Amino acid sequence: MFAERVLSGMRPTGALHLGHYHGVLKNWARLQAEYPCFYFVADLHALTTHYDDVQAIGHNTREMVIDWLASGIDPSQATLFVQSRVPQHAELHLMLSMMAPLSWLERVPTYKDQQEKLAEKDLTTYGFLGYPLLQAADILIYRAQHVPVGEDQVPHVEFTREVARRFNHLYGKEPGYAEKAEAAVKKLGGKQSRAYRELRDRYQEQGDPEALVAGRELLAAAQSLSAQDRERLFGYLEGGGKIILVEPQALLTEASRMPGLDGQKMSKSYGNTIALREDAKSVEKKVRTMPTDPARVRRTDPGNPDKCPVWELHRVYSDDATRTWVRNGCTSAGIGCLECKQPVIDGVLREQGPMLERAQKYIDDPKLVTDILEDGCQKAARLAEETMHDVRAAMGLGHD
Ligand code: TRP
Ligand code: SF4
Repeated sequence: MFAERVLSGMRPTGALHLGHYHGVLKNWARLQAEYPCFYFVADLHALTTHYDDVQAIGHNTREMVIDWLASGIDPSQATLFVQSRVPQHAELHLMLSMMAPLSWLERVPTYKDQQEKLAEKDLTTYGFLGYPLLQAADILIYRAQHVPVGEDQVPHVEFTREVARRFNHLYGKEPGYAEKAEAAVKKLGGKQSRAYRELRDRYQEQGDPEALVAGRELLAAAQSLSAQDRERLFGYLEGGGKIILVEPQALLTEASRMPGLDGQKMSKSYGNTIALREDAKSVEKKVRTMPTDPARVRRTDPGNPDKCPVWELHRVYSDDATRTWVRNGCTSAGIGCLECKQPVIDGVLREQGPMLERAQKYIDDPKLVTDILEDGCQKAARLAEETMHDVRAAMGLGHD
């Protein structure tokens, strides 16, 4: 039916940190080899919460893209672009706003949560209420099946599915839809028509998911159908109309256990991060001043790694031999804490090495980033325009 695509976005909030690398970007880099992937900077989403503080958006956008490239996101495999530069996102958002029930938006959990969390901001705006709808437009405009996100974003993907279903229900039924679908069934030819009807009944009457799969396979293999009839019959199989917008699935990113400098999860809001491209001096200083097991006051006091945030980082960066050395040395007071921290510093710097190297190329020649984004925006816009063409026509605004 539609090609399998992966889509995800990130708001340009400033320099990314190692938590982003371990939690999100490694996953993005893995996916780019498996699917056509579309990764974008959600700069319009940044405006929904930072409409009064827009100075840094452009700078943060470029820096974030450099962080992506540094992490191994490869522009020859994945399409990288900027949301606001593909205006079809905004157009689809407007079109969807005509039919998205206000109550659906008000009950998305992040709406009230974020308003409370960012109490110092006035988020009683039209744009902020529409945050999930803009996200739905981002996803639906590429007919993306897979959306890699963290757990906090799952309600947004669910919401997107509901919007797609409602859209297809409202606009997927052209005049004379049932008659046209029935005529298309006949075009399948005797044996195949019968098989299609049987599978359709089995799915619609008994909800048998295998019948749905078999029905889709039958249609995919049918030689006698025009593309339009095929689309019709995909929708008819499920009972809805034509599928104009595709329901996506969240591809749940495993919660990153990347610990920060204080043992809590690494997060900008805790101020416990190491930037992806933090310079070596600063990495060294941050790790050296990390808190350790509070019971280890003097060098001669034995410690307990299980009560020490440094140990959490050894679990990420050290091999078995080093970890054994830490456990033995700490519990026997055989090593000092600064000594213990050195392999962590080395581990972080080792990880950053290739990232800094990849980034340097783009820092030296900013035009490379400009070109990557321009290419990406163009490619994205081509696909987005295909969908918009169908959407406009379905909503009565077709011009041809
Ligand atoms: N809301 C997402 C976040 O805060 C960012 C985002 C915007 C997004 N549009 C998207 C993620 C579309 C996935 C798909 O992380
Ligand atoms: Fe933590 Fe290492 Fe010091 Fe033990 S020796 S308290 S694990 S820093």
